[in-house]
Amino acid sequence: MIKVNDNFCKLPGSYLFSEVARKVKAYAEANPTAKIIKMGIGDVTRPLCQAAIAAMTEAVKDQASAETFHGYGPETGYDFLRQAIVAGDYGKRGVKVELDEIFVNDGAKSDTGNIGDILSPDCKVAVTDPVYPVYVDTNVMAGRAGELKGNGCWSNVIYLPCTVDNDFVPSLPKETPDVIYLCYPNNPTGTTLTRDQLKVWVDYARENGALILFDSAYEAYITDEDVPHSIYEIPGAKEVAIEFRSYSKTAGFTGVRCGYTVVPMALQGVNSKGEKVSLNALWRRRQTTKFNGSSYIAQRGAAALYTSRGREEIAETVAYYMDNARMLREAMLSLGLKAVGGVNAPYVWVKTPDGLSSWEFFDLLLHKCSIVGTPGVGFGPSGEGYFRFSAFSSHEATEEASNRLARFIK
Ligand code: MLT
Repeated sequence: MIKVNDNFCKLPGSYLFSEVARKVKAYAEANPTAKIIKMGIGDVTRPLCQAAIAAMTEAVKDQASAETFHGYGPETGYDFLRQAIVAGDYGKRGVKVELDEIFVNDGAKSDTGNIGDILSPDCKVAVTDPVYPVYVDTNVMAGRAGELKGNGCWSNVIYLPCTVDNDFVPSLPKETPDVIYLCYPNNPTGTTLTRDQLKVWVDYARENGALILFDSAYEAYITDEDVPHSIYEIPGAKEVAIEFRSYSKTAGFTGVRCGYTVVPMALQGVNSKGEKVSLNALWRRRQTTKFNGSSYIAQRGAAALYTSRGREEIAETVAYYMDNARMLREAMLSLGLKAVGGVNAPYVWVKTPDGLSSWEFFDLLLHKCSIVGTPGVGFGPSGEGYFRFSAFSSHEATEEASNRLARFIK
């Protein structure tokens, strides 16, 4: 019989959002008339913007004729998109990023999961807790996480609790990690780090030879001036950080699939012979071997987001979801629940009432209110007793959910 990768066998039965989907499916089958409001997985509901639709329609037409047909594209992305990224996401904020530092992909999830391919299996990883489960699960798969302990922590992972006690700002670890995952604006808590708070991490990484994997998939939702959109706004970050970006939550590309990763030229690691190695070169080697690029059509759609029409349309969509976030946050607070997030992020992180566990609250909301959220403990041990609501529904559904919750909790 074929021998399997034992690390996969260490993982809990199913991925968080698959478990939520399984429970929701069972409830829907047993209650076919229930009007279920889904605020669980952060999947968007607004249609693609017209700028992207028009560009993708043209791209499909290109594929209809031999003269304009595009087959395999450059594995790291077409120049037309990478140029738009360099100017539109970085240049406008005074950050210098080179074309060759950009790797276009099929969404941030793939690259945040795959980046570990170029890191030593011995690297010690630190994650904020709660955390987007992909970071931990993919390190389990790679054999870096150790064993799952009774308290829900992996023995070889450094957890950086983010709770009400530290205002959801992680403290520097006591034990020095090699790799630090930071996601800001944060999924799942919706909280942020200011420029000064992020600088603490960049300085720490520089002093300790650590690598920061910075997921800024939600940067478009930032409203506060002192919250950086990119880690490269912090001096010295290009020597210690890789940044992941996504068009999923901004432009509704969860189904289209396109995003990108920035791996700076200045970023260096060391191999087992003690030689310095460029992480950009290693990632390029990895991507050109294992990835054939995001589709031409998706990349044309992404490039259109940088036009003035694209920008305006995205801003409208983001404002729409942020209206929901405000509505949700206000609803929770008016019910006397403790809630954070929803100001610079499309997630509201709520303390469950009456000391209910995250999954108890999930089951109650599903069965009594037909509302789906995500149990906080699914994001890590420090998420126990918390619950995440996503603001990606329609206004009507968000309002209806707020009313149902008010009736239920009162
Ligand atoms: C989430 O709900 O945390 C995200 O939608 C998951 C993802 O982006 O993969």
